Amino acid sequence: MSEKKHRVSRRQFLNYTLTGVGGFMAAGMLMPMVRFAVDPVLKPSAEQDLVQVVSVDEITSEPQRFDFKIDQIDAWYESVEPRSAWVYKDESGKIIALSPVCKHLGCVVDWNTDPANENMFFCPCHYGLYEKDGTNVPGTPPIAPLDVFIHEVKDGYLYLGKAKPRGGA
Ligand code: FES
Repeated sequence: MSEKKHRVSRRQFLNYTLTGVGGFMAAGMLMPMVRFAVDPVLKPSAEQDLVQVVSVDEITSEPQRFDFKIDQIDAWYESVEPRSAWVYKDESGKIIALSPVCKHLGCVVDWNTDPANENMFFCPCHYGLYEKDGTNVPGTPPIAPLDVFIHEVKDGYLYLGKAKPRGGA
């Protein structure tokens, strides 16, 4: 039976030590750079501020489309993005602000433009229909209600935030 030698030579010891120390130092230098590069991606997106859209006096019981702009920050990129909302007051006077983005494939819905289905939101792309409150009509392509904008009334003006799925967080 031969006895195996497990002794480490001086050259091997130096190689292991220098490799280990070099790797440790390289990691110490690279980690802050990697962290800096990916940091905006890792951060949860900040809740978007509410934007002033229209005077409450202009809001009627008939849905009207109002356009506005939001500041959007996607990781490193900041931009000003156009948005639209269908806004009206329901029977109790409550303000409803619906996203115009169809929940089928994202076309823009219109109010009361389909002569066969009056007083409904209509998506001309694939004949999608929604009730006035944004509920999707069964049997048409959309499979979910229109998103609802977070909103607030301040000093007589309507402010809108992010559009969220109905009942969503
Ligand atoms: S995108 Fe609206 S019905 Fe298809």
